[in-house]
Amino acid sequence: MSSGKAEVSPRVEKLLASMTPAEKIGQLIQYFYFQLPESDVDSGLPERQTDLVEQALAAGRAGSLLFVTDPATSNRLQRQAVAGSAHGIPVLFGFDVIHGLRTIFPVPIALAASWNPELIEQAQTVAAREARAVGIHWAFAPMVDIARDPRWGRMIEGAGEDPFLAAAVAAAQVRGFQGSHLGADEHIIAGPKHFAGYGAAVGGRDYDEVDLSDQELWNTYLPPFQAAIDAGAGNIMSAYMDLNGVPATGNRWLLHDVLREGLGFEGFVVSDANSARDLETHHFAADLPDAGVRALNAGLDLEMTIVEPAYGHLDEALADGRVDLERIDASVRRLLAVKEALGLLDNPFVDEDAARVTLADPAHRDAAREAAEGSAVLLRNEGDLLPLAATSVQKLAVIGPLADSKRDTLGPWIFDYDLEETVTVLDGIRSHLEQPTVEVTYAAGVPAFARKYPSMFDMWGDGSRADENADAEAELANAVRTATEADVAVVVIGERQDMIGEHASRASLDLPGNQLALLQAVVATGTPTVVVLLSGRPLDLRWAQENVPAILQVWYPGTRGGEAVANLLFGQAVPGGKLPFSWPRTAGQIPMHYAHTRSHSPENQGRRYWDEESTPLYPFGHGLSYATFEYANPSVSAASVGRDESVTVGVDVTNTSGQDGVEVAQLYLHQRYGSSSRPVRLLKGFQRVPVAAGQTIRVEFTISPAERRYWSSATRDWVLDATVFDVWVGTNSEAELHTEFTVQR
Ligand code: BGC
Repeated sequence: MSSGKAEVSPRVEKLLASMTPAEKIGQLIQYFYFQLPESDVDSGLPERQTDLVEQALAAGRAGSLLFVTDPATSNRLQRQAVAGSAHGIPVLFGFDVIHGLRTIFPVPIALAASWNPELIEQAQTVAAREARAVGIHWAFAPMVDIARDPRWGRMIEGAGEDPFLAAAVAAAQVRGFQGSHLGADEHIIAGPKHFAGYGAAVGGRDYDEVDLSDQELWNTYLPPFQAAIDAGAGNIMSAYMDLNGVPATGNRWLLHDVLREGLGFEGFVVSDANSARDLETHHFAADLPDAGVRALNAGLDLEMTIVEPAYGHLDEALADGRVDLERIDASVRRLLAVKEALGLLDNPFVDEDAARVTLADPAHRDAAREAAEGSAVLLRNEGDLLPLAATSVQKLAVIGPLADSKRDTLGPWIFDYDLEETVTVLDGIRSHLEQPTVEVTYAAGVPAFARKYPSMFDMWGDGSRADENADAEAELANAVRTATEADVAVVVIGERQDMIGEHASRASLDLPGNQLALLQAVVATGTPTVVVLLSGRPLDLRWAQENVPAILQVWYPGTRGGEAVANLLFGQAVPGGKLPFSWPRTAGQIPMHYAHTRSHSPENQGRRYWDEESTPLYPFGHGLSYATFEYANPSVSAASVGRDESVTVGVDVTNTSGQDGVEVAQLYLHQRYGSSSRPVRLLKGFQRVPVAAGQTIRVEFTISPAERRYWSSATRDWVLDATVFDVWVGTNSEAELHTEFTVQR
């Protein structure tokens, strides 16, 4: 375990001692370097933003850049940085390496749905290798914000609603990005974000304020950060919003007391884009110079900005004593130590030819396909419609606007992808069925649709476009005809990639763009129908759940997604993913999470609304397989233990089918009484177990004091109660197989 600290060497101390205050301040500024692909797009950016950056480099007033993914540009800018810095200090290049660089992996919520830390670590290892090859030193990832409100588009970047799962996913991503230590070959720094509570934006509206109790913060929102820090993350990014009335980026309690003293973080903290400048927008800082002072004094090391930095005014603040040199030195030291750990002080340049080879590595594409297979969640499979038997299908209809959209197959938050090599669901099914020969037909079914308000990525020309001139009736009729003539219809629907992500909150969970009507029309033909869903948030599937036999959630599956989907549909891969969130029936139920507390009239829990059930459509942890599993014989190693002792829970998992499969066995814990009322159940263990057809495997979970400890609003501290614990083990958060144990004083 480490705390993200890059060791400070005598070389760094010597360098620091020789720098002027102005040079030091320059090290604390990070600029976007925006090279937009289309010169005519209206970006809203100041004219020649890149000139501003190059002037800063020439003056030694930039310590870091972001958004450079071309190795030749990286080398060119690096040369400018070295020449502009009195001590030849290179810049650190950061970037949003969220789910791959050139090889696009399934989106982060999908990777979380694999419940497979090794697979997740592997994905980010590949991403790190590609990023490092082109000159990127640091990923603004993983996003470890807990999300319990699917209106918030950024839930796609995280690991869902649960702190225990999210902590495991966070640690795996940090290991993948960073490797064995800060500065490991072919690896980059991980930057967990956004510190902290950003996922709890009021109304699910991105950037809106957040009000979180201390118990929510410590028990639910901070554990993934703690796990990422314990795994050695070198950086943390601050958040945009107010947390309990104080902007996160200017919040000394948060950035110092909680992050440094509470969680033990020793790496460097970066602002979110322009969020130090935003301290003025928040009506917290008096003006831009004050914003810089407040951010620095709160504990922010590096300011990320698109335009004039607030830290550009720190020279005056230093001169008149609003900040002190010691505070500046502490931040500069952290950044120099990172540059040294990455070897940049010796050689900051990249090998452009080697980068090309790394980006083309076929092993990376295979890893992406495996990740897509491992993260799909089979939500429903009535009458075992799936897997499809290629031998009994003569004609297969692929229908839906997302079936053949390369860009939508990849998902949001990517910039360096290659559409040429992207495999859509339609492509994947077509090539899968070349042998034996099945006729594959295709109809989009609905005209191209788009957001009502444009996405922030429109400036890259990367937003969805609606087709206003299309003949919607003719498209639908064509889809109905195509379905009628086929033996099976695979309907590929969901949200377009820019309908989810940053700045992509939604007020409803409906299938956009008439897709529900399309689905209903296809099902009405009587042709057996499979829904393949592309989304990063739960959508309203109430009608589908009642009327469509098979539903496979494939998220945005990435570069080789279509191939993975074909393998899953035809049984060459067996679905094993599980939901990392509770899937609401309708937006009116939001927020909805399984770990609620028990309260008055619990027998009515499922009927709190008079017009809809209070339960989710699919519970947290749900996911079917082509195999079936049964759980039996739960045991505890001791009926009663001391407070410092662990308990081992065992259970038999039997594969009762004729198909091999992998089950994610889950353990939930409930504390019956104590200092606080505790949630009805909490995930406290999970294990992926391959179980061959007919086989039984004994699975064991250890419940240590760490899993029983929590922060109580009653004592305003961490507690470990002497009490009785209920334990459930099974296939999802509604598991019923029960045992219990007592913890003595
Ligand atoms: C996002 C961050 C991201 C940064 C840099 C911001 O808008 O909130 O998550 O890392 O931009 O692209």
